[in-house]
Amino acid sequence: MPPPPPADPLFPTDPLFDVSGLSVLVAGGAGGLGAVLARAFAERGARVLAADLARAVAAAEAAGTPAVALDVTDEASCAAAMDEAVRRHGRLDVLINASGVYRTGPALEFARADWDAEIAVNLTGAFLLARAAGRVLTEQGSGAVITLASVSSAVANPAYAAYAASKAGVAHLTRVLAQEWAPRGVRVNAIGPAMTETAMTRGVFDDPGHRTRALARIPMGRFGRPEDLVGAAVFLASPAGAFVTGQTLFVDGGRTVS
Ligand SMILES: NC(=O)c1ccc[n+]([C@@H]2O[C@H](COP(=O)([O-])OP(=O)(O)OC[C@H]3O[C@@H](n4cnc5c(N)ncnc54)[C@H](O)[C@@H]3O)[C@@H](O)[C@H]2O)c1
Repeated sequence: MPPPPPADPLFPTDPLFDVSGLSVLVAGGAGGLGAVLARAFAERGARVLAADLARAVAAAEAAGTPAVALDVTDEASCAAAMDEAVRRHGRLDVLINASGVYRTGPALEFARADWDAEIAVNLTGAFLLARAAGRVLTEQGSGAVITLASVSSAVANPAYAAYAASKAGVAHLTRVLAQEWAPRGVRVNAIGPAMTETAMTRGVFDDPGHRTRALARIPMGRFGRPEDLVGAAVFLASPAGAFVTGQTLFVDGGRTVS
């Protein structure tokens, strides 16, 4: 395993936002947002392990992050990923869950199988993975869980029944877990990105009409970029976020207040 990169002497880390040395597991670490978050934490000296579906492990490693297989819908797989982070780094400090699936369509025609698949990964998977991390972190008495929610946690778009329900569920799950684990030193938060171009949203970006409508809803007049999430994730993982729990922090160019 490569050693963490040395701190850049020209840019000493502000202790408030220091994540160096933290053991960070990034689920969905091969994805468009997960890969950028994994790299950002590694660049700041964290010891990062990516985890993703077996078919995506090679992609995560090609992006420069050590990776293991994980299926968030499988309890044993979630526990094994935590064990592996602890085995490699001696402890676990932060779970970032950037796994997810995105299926949309009018509710009247939406297939039961699509509903089940979306809830299984985005909501049940978020719970199973957070719980697996929570078991390690509460025992340890410290740590942070950060789940990728969405603007769809707060706003309702037509054709988003399953996705929006799953992401609203993530925001509320975050509030409940935050209360349960606060007395044991574990903070639980979520980040709500706006529409960002990744493999997940290719269909939107490839459709000029859909793209134009989606852009029109973002007051700051641009789509999200994966890098936009780095500040929020570092904040929530670092001493700067020490008294923040149960929140969904929207990083969305104003989408949820428009
Ligand atoms: N891209 C956006 O516009 C956007 C906006 C808001 C929220 N989000 C959320 O951010 C997260 C990351 O999205 P992204 O844009 O990087 O998507 P992505 O498709 O690029 O990445 C998602 C990753 O999740 C992994 N994954 C899927 N099912 C899994 C499972 N069962 N177990 C483990 N890993 C699994 C995929 O292999 C993939 O690497 C998702 O939760 C998504 O809902 C994305």
